[in-house]
Amino acid sequence: MSNRRHFLQGGLSLAALATLAPWFPPAAWGTAPLLQRKIPSSGENIPVIGLGTSRVFNESLDDASLAPLLEVVRTLFAGGATLIDTAPSYGAAEEVTGELLKRSGDLDRAFLATKLSSHGKASGEAQFRASQKALQREKIDLVQVHNLMDTATQLGLLRELKQQGTVRYIGITHYVESAHDDLIETLEKEKGVDFVQFNYSVGERGAEKRLLPYCADHGLATLINRPFQRSALLQQVKGKPLPDWAGELQATSWAQILLKFILAHPAVTVAIPATSKARYMADNLTAGTGPLPDAALREKIVQVFA
Ligand SMILES: NC(=O)c1ccc[n+]([C@@H]2O[C@H](COP(=O)([O-])OP(=O)(O)OC[C@H]3O[C@@H](n4cnc5c(N)ncnc54)[C@H](OP(=O)(O)O)[C@@H]3O)[C@@H](O)[C@H]2O)c1
Repeated sequence: MSNRRHFLQGGLSLAALATLAPWFPPAAWGTAPLLQRKIPSSGENIPVIGLGTSRVFNESLDDASLAPLLEVVRTLFAGGATLIDTAPSYGAAEEVTGELLKRSGDLDRAFLATKLSSHGKASGEAQFRASQKALQREKIDLVQVHNLMDTATQLGLLRELKQQGTVRYIGITHYVESAHDDLIETLEKEKGVDFVQFNYSVGERGAEKRLLPYCADHGLATLINRPFQRSALLQQVKGKPLPDWAGELQATSWAQILLKFILAHPAVTVAIPATSKARYMADNLTAGTGPLPDAALREKIVQVFA
């Protein structure tokens, strides 16, 4: 479906969006649809760019604090994306996400991913109920065991919740390369996992060795966190002009080049850059449109960040 149709279906015209945010839409918008990939365990399509909420959504619930974040969420949906990744351990992020989705009218459209970071089944159940309340939704699309914390017990609980229909997909996460082998070990032992979330970027390519191929071979969807290594990768190229070959990717920013590098890996399902700014959200969504780098262009990206 084209972005343009998404705007219209969402009840927003391009003109209305331009009034809402004068910088909007960036040049590449509306010219190509946002790429989608399949969730292997169900065959459901999902847009390749999502939104992370760590730190950036840990805000007060007053109107002034929520206003810029509401524009981020509106931009996400206007661009055809749906996935928001949050966690009970991200301060107020779950509550802020629920409130923003209520205000934007997108509560039912969102693909909501949260996490469990508990010890023991009773504590996990209580944490899940608190997430439902904060997110203002009974049914959560994806719940992941955060950083492999009490994994066997929490995955057992998640399988039950999935069976009951309260959770659609279950997963496990980590954010450091030294834990990638532990993720694989867990996947070897535990059945029924749909999603694996981990760090992967041009600056942290360890997942290419075993984890990404493992996920491809075993029908696992992947969520990619830390796509900019927070902002470190973007700092590395601050003020540096884009190379000529950026045109071949239809990329107009370094953030788009970094995200396209990630999306070019066939085992990647969704990248989840975090942002508190609507213009960055639009920038990141643009990375999910147009051409992706082939092996030769990926190598050129590697050289820039070497
Ligand atoms: N263990 C886990 O499960 C785990 C661990 C780490 C992360 N995660 C998930 O993955 C998400 C992403 O990782 P992350 O938040 O650590 O780091 P990240 O996405 O690599 O970087 C986020 C930073 O990049 C900046 N940014 C975003 N888009 C930009 C753009 N187009 N141009 C310039 N700057 C841009 C943001 O700036 P502004 O703040 O100015 O918008 C933000 O500070 C998290 O939010 C979380 O949902 C999960």
